Amino acid sequence: MQFQNVLENPQMAFSTLTDLMIVSIATQKGGAGKTTTSIALSAGLARKGKKVLLVDIDQQANSSKVLLRHYPTITKEQSVHATIIERKPLPIHKTDVPNLDIVPGHILLSNTDVELTIALGWLTINALNSSDQVIIIVAPGYFELDSIVQFYKTIAEVQEFFNPDLQLKGILFTRSDPTVNTRESLTILRQMYGKELLPVIIPENTDLRNAHFNKQDIFAYNPHAKGAVAYDKLINELFL
Ligand SMILES: Nc1ncnc2c1ncn2[C@@H]1O[C@H](COP(=O)(O)OP(=O)(O)OP(=O)(O)O)[C@@H](O)[C@H]1O
Ligand SMILES: [Mg+2]
Repeated sequence: MQFQNVLENPQMAFSTLTDLMIVSIATQKGGAGKTTTSIALSAGLARKGKKVLLVDIDQQANSSKVLLRHYPTITKEQSVHATIIERKPLPIHKTDVPNLDIVPGHILLSNTDVELTIALGWLTINALNSSDQVIIIVAPGYFELDSIVQFYKTIAEVQEFFNPDLQLKGILFTRSDPTVNTRESLTILRQMYGKELLPVIIPENTDLRNAHFNKQDIFAYNPHAKGAVAYDKLINELFL
């Protein structure tokens, strides 16, 4: 934005200069594609010039293991553990992707979570409390679809008790493949959550898996992969 425009239109300047958004990526069900989506969205946005901070509160620290080469040398004091347990400022680490920083997760968080858990993970509730928006990830399958109902309740409770401004950005259908299971799951999703279902669908694509093996985000590994193209479309749709 031109400085002149800022002076002429201070309200617009304010919204431009404070263009900060906190988004949670969540599901109730394991293996749906949370980590994959977190890495692809954060790296993709960063590669488009947005400054991104990925806060990894995954107990397995999977995103950190992909995005931080020196992850094995990171102590728990250098991870999000420092903030959650010791109330210290977020320890921010640079990644190899320009504009992308990360607060690494730590395996010890799993102990923390057990200690402090009431029903759904305490860490998830905290993430939702501090977010503007949440994206629900869902993969094909009966249990996967069923998990949305539970997660909706969690979102409603967070909105009621802690964070009334929390918005559901949408439900992202991932790992879509040409099977009956996928087709039926999509039909049900469209019937039940037609409005919330995001228009971009992420295909099952082995390049996404291989990228992580190579400790790369999908755009560095193969920007032409079907998975990369889909996540790129999603970024344009949601954030740009
Ligand atoms: N669209 C996709 N195409 C192919 N493989 C995928 C896709 N999305 C995720 N995967 C693979 O499926 C597995 C689970 O995905 P991911 O780790 O992203 O899920 P998650 O929701 O973070 O799982 P967890 O609950 O264990 O943290 C990983 O091996 C990942 O590489
Ligand atoms: Mg994960």
